[in-house]
Amino acid sequence: MSAGESRRVIVASTNHGKLAEIRSALDFDGWEFVTAVDLGLDSLDVEETGDTFLDNALLKALAYSEAFGLPALADDSGLEVDALDGAPGVRSSRYSGETATDAENNAKLLEELAAVAHDARTARFRSVIVLVEPDGTVTSASGHCEGRIGNERRGEGGFGYDPLFLPAATPGRTMAELALTEKNAISHRGAALRRLRKALELPDCG
Ligand code: IMP
Repeated sequence: MSAGESRRVIVASTNHGKLAEIRSALDFDGWEFVTAVDLGLDSLDVEETGDTFLDNALLKALAYSEAFGLPALADDSGLEVDALDGAPGVRSSRYSGETATDAENNAKLLEELAAVAHDARTARFRSVIVLVEPDGTVTSASGHCEGRIGNERRGEGGFGYDPLFLPAATPGRTMAELALTEKNAISHRGAALRRLRKALELPDCG
């Protein structure tokens, strides 16, 4: 990349919550993060057939990089609940059905945990981020965020299971009650993105 030129990276996602967090955390100098829609093109519908977050992140990043001829960045993430043996895990977005909404997934989670006491409601979010270059070079990083599942939804921020997730780092507040920068500072995705920066040997953003 020569001086003054920006490095365009396509983000393999249509999830607005995820995109906002990725864009807020990735202020790499000289890098431009775009979506297919920003380019006036259709997003890809990549089937997430992998058994792990890494497999699925790779599937998405490889598909986007190949289709658009650009470096591609993908996040695959989800919630692991100990009392449910790690479910919903890689099926987090489809927990209550293939076309489930966040509200439906949250309702199912509350139902499944109805008989589980406070101390046994431990859980964590996990995120794996993959960057694939058009020449096939892969860089990946992961992060997790420990917490507990509450008994009721609280807060309007974030997305997905945020209104039910009580991070250990923010006692008394759900992830949906945190500002975007606060969430990025403690979240699985924020941690993965900071590790990706290190792996790419880019300077810290603080
Ligand atoms: P993916 O798009 O296949 O990676 O699915 C991620 C799913 O995991 C989302 O649809 C949410 O249900 C859940 N999830 C992942 N990260 C978060 C988060 O930061 N907050 C709340 N839910 C999340």
